[in-house]
Amino acid sequence: MLVLGIETSCDETAVALYDTDRGLCGQSIYSQIELHERYGGVVPELASRDHVQKLVPLIRQTLSQSQLELSDVHSIAYTSGPGLMGALLVGASIGRSLAWALNISAMGVHHMEAHLLAPLLDQSPPDFPFVALLVSGGHTQLVFVRAIGDYSLLGQSLDDAAGEAFDKTAKVLGLGYPGGPEIARAALSGDPSRFNLPRPMTDRPGLDFSFSGLKTAVKLAVEKRLPLSAESLADIAASFESAVVDTLIIKCQRAIEKTKVKSLVIAGGVAANKTLREKARILDCQVFFPLDNLCTDNGAMVAFAGHQRLTAGLTNSLAIEVRPRWDLDRLDPILQS
Ligand code: KG4
Ligand code: ZN
Repeated sequence: MLVLGIETSCDETAVALYDTDRGLCGQSIYSQIELHERYGGVVPELASRDHVQKLVPLIRQTLSQSQLELSDVHSIAYTSGPGLMGALLVGASIGRSLAWALNISAMGVHHMEAHLLAPLLDQSPPDFPFVALLVSGGHTQLVFVRAIGDYSLLGQSLDDAAGEAFDKTAKVLGLGYPGGPEIARAALSGDPSRFNLPRPMTDRPGLDFSFSGLKTAVKLAVEKRLPLSAESLADIAASFESAVVDTLIIKCQRAIEKTKVKSLVIAGGVAANKTLREKARILDCQVFFPLDNLCTDNGAMVAFAGHQRLTAGLTNSLAIEVRPRWDLDRLDPILQS
């Protein structure tokens, strides 16, 4: 089965083709970073309008680069939530209309399930059950994964998501958007031990997170040192990155001990962070990350997640529906063959 995957939940227009026998046949990503950069964050209406302009040409480009035709596609998977309402509606409308015109099926995909399953696209995927740490711009969650679609939430952020904390802290430091890669770059030459920033909520039991206080601690440190020297900026960036990563690792270790799983998946945009990847080596289990280009939003993970649901025989109604808010543990499990 050849599935065309469409991702438009936020600021990336992404398309991919995934086939049961051949695996990933091709993918294209158009990032809207330049469009939103000057506003320091994503402007929802601009995002929707840009998806409308870019999606159809991107579908054409991905098919031609993969030497495939629309008539080769058996089914369409598109992100139907969670995400920005208008942005989601672009992918859902075009995905469903195209499926209707081609007389093929279409499947709405949960964006965080797609992130979570991205490491399964790899040659040596993790076995079930595993724990997943999902760290993106909108979510920070620890999830117990029994099988595809069978998820229990172990903990989550009570305020800002980890990616959001990177983005907001980058703004405080006068760095660009998205903040994660910018802070990681600035941190390379910094001393992570110079500023003693908190590791929030690690001094009490539980698997929830809170990152908004960390951003405030950085703000105070910056205000005391204005104008910020290049050295101080690098040291603050490194200390912040280290605080976020330590916090994530402490909670992952707790989740592993609690559930006694042998594998941990770390996925979502923040999973691209090199310091996180290095520090994850200390965890008491095997750790799986998606390939670098499959951490941030992409079409491959959507095509793959949709493929798993479609080949399990699941169907959707023909209605164009999106769910800007959608809990992962509300999904239908699919039976593993
Ligand atoms: O998964 P994603 O592409 O989009 C959402 O679903 O939100 O994640 C985007 C987030 C942004 O907040 C971005 O700053 C963060 O991932 N990010 C990083 C890195 N690359 C992207 N955070 C830390 N280090 C990175 N290298
Ligand atoms: Zn995402």
